[in-house]
Amino acid sequence: MLDEIAEEIRKCRRCDLWKTRKNTVPGEGNENAEVMFIGEAPGRKEDETGKPFVGAAGDVLNEMLDGIELKREDVFITSVLKCRPPNNRNPRPDEIAACSLFLEEQMRTIKPRVICTLGNVATAYLLRRFGMKPQPISRIHGKPINIDTLDLHFTLIPMYHPAAVIYNAGMRNALVNDFKTLKKVIYRRTR
Ligand code: URA
Repeated sequence: MLDEIAEEIRKCRRCDLWKTRKNTVPGEGNENAEVMFIGEAPGRKEDETGKPFVGAAGDVLNEMLDGIELKREDVFITSVLKCRPPNNRNPRPDEIAACSLFLEEQMRTIKPRVICTLGNVATAYLLRRFGMKPQPISRIHGKPINIDTLDLHFTLIPMYHPAAVIYNAGMRNALVNDFKTLKKVIYRRTR
């Protein structure tokens, strides 16, 4: 099923980003993952390889996962956009609107217990999607929010984007702590 979604993404021309992409980046990981990470959009290295979080931000994400003994192959990692915006500019609202059906299908297929949004773009998307007002990541990072809808039940944990913490020790510490919160939520069997 995830393969079918990835194939749809490979053929996608719903916005103009297909014109400049080298590869689509559908995401990768475990179809039965309990934890899903959602970033913003592929960067240069992701566009070149077709894999999510393989550049500098990916190194930070790997380090955070190692820190709580989670393996990349046990989680699912993706982004709101599946194609790279030229020069890594911010995703545009029309691109997010065009692309979001793929993320929605991935969430419904995986049905994760926990979704970690990495950065403002993914956090704002999910908060709006589930009827909440977007809030700055600096205010809500690391605070779990339980989301229960007809077909999706998960704990949302907003986090800083790994790329944002590379040159900021304070934010890096906050991300380390938010991963500790994630670990606690994973090992809490009932919410
Ligand atoms: N940043 C993201 O948000 N996603 C990626 O896949 C890589 C970098």
